[in-house]
Amino acid sequence: MIERLSELAAAALGDLDAARTEKDVEDARVRYLGRKSEIATISKGLGALSDDERKALGKALNEFKATVTARLDEARTRVLAGAASASVGPDLTLPGRAPWVGRKHPITRTLDRLEEILLGLGFEVAVGPEVEDEFHNFEALNIPPDHPARDMWDTFYVDGGSLLRTHTSPVQIRVMQSTKPPVRIIAPGRVYRNENPDASHGSEFYQLEGLYVDRDVRLAELRGVLTRFLKELLGDDVGIRFRPGFFPFTEPSIEVDVRCSICGGSGCSVCKGTGWVELVGAGMVDPRVFRAVGYDPDAVSGYAFGLGVDRVCMMLTGTDDIRLFLENDLRFLRGV
Ligand code: PHE
Repeated sequence: MIERLSELAAAALGDLDAARTEKDVEDARVRYLGRKSEIATISKGLGALSDDERKALGKALNEFKATVTARLDEARTRVLAGAASASVGPDLTLPGRAPWVGRKHPITRTLDRLEEILLGLGFEVAVGPEVEDEFHNFEALNIPPDHPARDMWDTFYVDGGSLLRTHTSPVQIRVMQSTKPPVRIIAPGRVYRNENPDASHGSEFYQLEGLYVDRDVRLAELRGVLTRFLKELLGDDVGIRFRPGFFPFTEPSIEVDVRCSICGGSGCSVCKGTGWVELVGAGMVDPRVFRAVGYDPDAVSGYAFGLGVDRVCMMLTGTDDIRLFLENDLRFLRGV
């Protein structure tokens, strides 16, 4: 009899585990614990047994009921929960996973902004190759072979005498070779230098060149245009500093610094503790450059400027390390 009880218990637990609906659970209850169940019949026979047998069987019956009742409760809870979630469907009140909306790289956004301002000032966009020859990158810009001024640009040479352009100034030469004055262009693009990278220098970065050639163009006009341009870019209250400089292709030459917006001028790794960031090299186009492209230096004059786009981007985005722009780390890109 006790053996029969354990068979019944196994069958009951199996049926309850397989139950999918409330009705399955109820059917199992009736089948195993109901008034017409085999258990009920066995219980009725208890009175006819000897004391010892009755004790043993009674205990086994109680255990059977306790085990099956516990499993019944579990099964009922399980099918009710399943029914609830099936009838309600997914919980629409849960917060969703926000999709990431892609956008332009900060350098591209900076280039867009620079172009927007400078097109507004009357410039047109010109482009040139990144793999250049020595003539356009150096010689026509009044930097002869073996001249010490070449040290200003640590150059990556390519097989066959070509090189990766070290600045966007060769685009000046190409534009003047192919068009008559007046010219008023900007040339944005990537440039390369064999530098040891640090927080403010990379071996690959962006410049934006400007060139204006016409009759009677003067240094005061260059100063005025750069001031207007930098204020529009960085805000009317930006600190601007003009310093004398040297470039072989401009005479006189100037350098333009702006107050470091990373530290507010108190000194940091980007401005090397000076409070100022060098953004622009510029000057009046050297007569030798005009001669190299076939312009008459007595008939025309002009100014040129070259701007460090990455540094502008650092100012605009508050980024304190230029290398971040090339690393494509989404944790950085999503934040700027
Ligand atoms: N080409 C110069 C540089 O890379 C910048 C510059 C451009 C200076 C035009 C004067 C005029 O440093």
